[in-house]
Amino acid sequence: MENSEVILKIDDVSFEYGKLKVLEQISFDVKKNETVCILGPSGCGKTTLLRLISGLATTQHGNVTVSGVSSSQGHDYKQHLGLVFQEPRLLPWRTTIDNVLIPFELNQDKVTEEQKEKGMQALKLVGLESFAENYSHELSGGMRQRVALARAIVTDPDILLLDEPLTGLDVHTKEELQDEILSLKEKTKRTMLWVTHDPQEAIYIADRIIVLSNRPTVVREIISVNEPYPRTRMSQNALDLEKRIRNLFSED
Ligand SMILES: Nc1ncnc2c1ncn2[C@@H]1O[C@H](COP(=O)(O)OP(=O)(O)OP(=O)(O)O)[C@@H](O)[C@H]1O
Ligand SMILES: [Mg+2]
Repeated sequence: MENSEVILKIDDVSFEYGKLKVLEQISFDVKKNETVCILGPSGCGKTTLLRLISGLATTQHGNVTVSGVSSSQGHDYKQHLGLVFQEPRLLPWRTTIDNVLIPFELNQDKVTEEQKEKGMQALKLVGLESFAENYSHELSGGMRQRVALARAIVTDPDILLLDEPLTGLDVHTKEELQDEILSLKEKTKRTMLWVTHDPQEAIYIADRIIVLSNRPTVVREIISVNEPYPRTRMSQNALDLEKRIRNLFSED
């Protein structure tokens, strides 16, 4: 990778819920413009790890930094992040554009004209500018997730964190959105950390894949995909990688 500036650094992070050991000495980093996928079995702690990275949960051991700022720095830290969850989490009484503008309202009373303009640009990037005044019940599932994406990028964060953002969508919509997110990434030079449990999705979108084990969870392997974009879903390289990943899981 040409530009090796580290945006996110996870350093020796362990985490437990009471007696349940979830994460054990997890370390990896994400570099500028990289797309990194976290791939692991259900219940291994992927969401827990993302909550620690997003500052929604507090680290018990180890350090997380984004652009050199530690996750213990509260607001100073959170402003560097954009978050997309498994479900869109839109406010049903607000229009599309007003949902996109929510991050601006967290630190100030009134959204500025310039911020409104940024909101429209974000909607345009996800192809929804003509739905700005619609409510979420007037949108399809895929469209709602696009709004969530626009809301996550509106503040121009250093890194976009996505927790299984396409789970629950049909295969066609899912693949379409994978392509859209990749093209958005190209256009806006984003850095992304994307959680998935789907090896094919990871192989299609990631520069590198962090493969996690079962609990207590360690990093099993970090796989570089080494295939230029745009990719073919069923290339020999993709099939070989999938086999390699499935073998890793079956060893658990
Ligand atoms: N708030 C909590 N209190 C206690 N245990 C929890 C809590 N949240 C998660 N856990 C436990 O921690 C483990 C990891 O959960 P987590 O949600 O991080 O897994 P995951 O890898 O995201 O799973 P999935 O792929 O199903 O989304 C699970 O065993 C879960 O039961
Ligand atoms: Mg999860």
